[in-house]
Amino acid sequence: MLASATTVSADTMTMGLPVPALRAARVARGQEAFPLRVLWTRSGNLSTGLRLFGESFAPIVVFSGKGMPIQTRTALEKRATVWQAPADSLSPEWALQMLAQHHGVRKVVLEGGGTLLRLFLASRCVDELCLTWCPRVFGGSTGITLTGLPGDFLPSSVQARLLRMEQTGLECFTRWGLKYQRIFSGKR
Ligand SMILES: NC(=O)c1ccc[n+]([C@@H]2O[C@H](COP(=O)([O-])OP(=O)(O)OC[C@H]3O[C@@H](n4cnc5c(N)ncnc54)[C@H](OP(=O)(O)O)[C@@H]3O)[C@@H](O)[C@H]2O)c1
Repeated sequence: MLASATTVSADTMTMGLPVPALRAARVARGQEAFPLRVLWTRSGNLSTGLRLFGESFAPIVVFSGKGMPIQTRTALEKRATVWQAPADSLSPEWALQMLAQHHGVRKVVLEGGGTLLRLFLASRCVDELCLTWCPRVFGGSTGITLTGLPGDFLPSSVQARLLRMEQTGLECFTRWGLKYQRIFSGKR
């Protein structure tokens, strides 16, 4: 599971898997009961006081931009594996490559929020989108959307195809397969 420092702080998540059946299914597949917990921060401003650092049920991996202060890195390394981006920007492609290469990760659940999802969509790194419809209507110019705060369009629109839909109580759970437009190569 991959989540941002913003979301983990806002939601005081421990990034666990509370449903026993889901843990059992992982074990039956030959995996660890709990998935790797992956944190994302561009600035590197991440406190070891966050609730998830107090729980040891699964290893923690941190991806950070170049600017993480050395004191923060030293403190984090007592509890997590820290990868700092080699270039100026922290990119989804690089992080996913590192996860596959060094941690044997083949599938990532990206737990939002909108800013992070936008970044991964712009890099064409999301195959499926799980979207829950909740019966609430609210307004506001600072309301976070699926792709973060209202702003620029994505570099190109992403097509979505409904794979599954299930209504439970008042909520509707949907799963979408994503398809990206081809990038024009310049050759005809
Ligand atoms: N409804 C849901 O299912 C759901 C799911 C997840 C989250 N949420 C909510 O969404 C809110 C947070 O959403 P958000 O959009 O503000 O933040 P976000 O998407 O959770 O986090 C953005 C992260 O991306 C990093 N970042 C920003 N620009 C970047 C760039 N150009 N390159 C690389 N990394 C970059 C930021 O780094 P820094 O650490 O340096 O800031 C930050 O950690 C919270 O309130 C949370 O509760 C809802």
